[in-house]
Amino acid sequence: MAGIPHDHYEPKTGGEKWLYRRLPIVGLLYDTLMIPTPRNLNWMWIWGIVLVFTLVLQIATGVVLVMHYTPHVDMAFASIEHIMRNVNGGHMIRYFHMNGASLFFVAVYMHIFRGLYYGSYKAPREVTWIIGILMFVLMMGTAFMGYVLPWGQMSFHGTAVITGLFGAIPFVGEAVQTWLLGASAVGQPALNRFFSLHYLLPFILLGLTIVHVWAFHTTGNNNPTGVEVRRTSKEDAQKDTLPFWPYFVIKDLFALALILVVFMIIVGFMPNYLGHPDNYIPANPLATPSHIVPEWYFLPFYAILRAFTADVWVVMFADWITFGIVDAKFFGVLAMFGAIVVMALAPWLDTSSVRSGRYRPMFKWWFALLVVDFIVLMWVGAMPAEGIYPYISLIGSAYWFGYFLVILPLLGVIEKPQPQPATIEDDFNAHYGGSGDGKAAAPTPAE
Ligand code: HEM
Repeated sequence: MAGIPHDHYEPKTGGEKWLYRRLPIVGLLYDTLMIPTPRNLNWMWIWGIVLVFTLVLQIATGVVLVMHYTPHVDMAFASIEHIMRNVNGGHMIRYFHMNGASLFFVAVYMHIFRGLYYGSYKAPREVTWIIGILMFVLMMGTAFMGYVLPWGQMSFHGTAVITGLFGAIPFVGEAVQTWLLGASAVGQPALNRFFSLHYLLPFILLGLTIVHVWAFHTTGNNNPTGVEVRRTSKEDAQKDTLPFWPYFVIKDLFALALILVVFMIIVGFMPNYLGHPDNYIPANPLATPSHIVPEWYFLPFYAILRAFTADVWVVMFADWITFGIVDAKFFGVLAMFGAIVVMALAPWLDTSSVRSGRYRPMFKWWFALLVVDFIVLMWVGAMPAEGIYPYISLIGSAYWFGYFLVILPLLGVIEKPQPQPATIEDDFNAHYGGSGDGKAAAPTPAE
């Protein structure tokens, strides 16, 4: 696919030309900042920038925290208390970092569901999507390992539960678990390696962010109509787009400011609201908390993990057909990872020729149900695995898989989509003035 035609950087002064011939970095920055962006992007397109901001915030606050943190089982908890009580601004930096993780996941879930609704995962943006999924998995790994570092009760026992999952892998499970922990149980080697990886992974995320942006700059952004920017001429492209600077930079910064107001209120007035009080008790291997719950952002996947108990017929069937190799625990682990894999496969599972959910009358309802399902799974993941809750988890998990594996492929065949606008310009004029018939030209940036 040819790129969107637009003006490129031309060095003017002697100095600019000198540098351009040796290192065209100004040209690269200029082309990145001035990239033609669909002019009809709505407020769901702010989350990418929020994600970039949060990643930088996490790295900046994390680097300062590490200056005062000690990754030793006898000192980790005390060093966090030292940061909170003695280090100048230490409690603020820690609370930024703690709640920054939550902001990161709020943003990534909004970003993912935006993509799922507007079909941003569909061709030609599959690579952007797959890299996104990879980043999501890395984010989860990073957050999990970060939670171990304060060495509180939840850190310790949560690590035991999650690394124990790998022990469920047939034949090699115990070896894998020992390899991950660096010992047969959670202790100093685990703390050291999780600390090392928790520092490393955000930089890999940063690198992947650049590749992610490169990928969607190659294809051009999707937009609420799902209709592509016209590439027929520079003039046509200009009617569908606006340069990223200053239009979208201002929009994104405005949205970021509003989000940061809420974030500051949480960090300033209720910094422990999203945390668990047990993590303010030093780790004690001999006293297991009665109810181990992961952080809120893991809950939907935790619910899927716990949904498949030994009395569920698919589990019984899998157990029987594999001569007991796939037992309930291993099935749960497969389901949890499978829930992410089916999301990664969305570009190939969605058979509809229409990209945006806006013009898909049946899809809209199933998608709304998916959002509700995700919220229900999040709620039920925090409940004890008894009474009615395992049944709710099971229904929620079944819908998650059903949506991707059955509903998405089927809808493309049975649904009759509504008419889409011919161009982004038409959609823009219909929403923001103009005659709405596509004849009135949207203003170009120069006007
Ligand atoms: C650290 C994590 C991430 C960062 C920093 C990031 C950053 C961005 C940015 C800046 C954009 C453009 C603006 C926007 O669309 O809001 C974008 C677009 C996109 N992202 Fe992400 N992203 C991340 C994770 C993800 C994940 C987890 C997925 C999906 C699984 C994803 C899928 C996409 C897609 C499909 C687009 C293209 C949307 C379009 O063309 O309109 N991203 N991302």
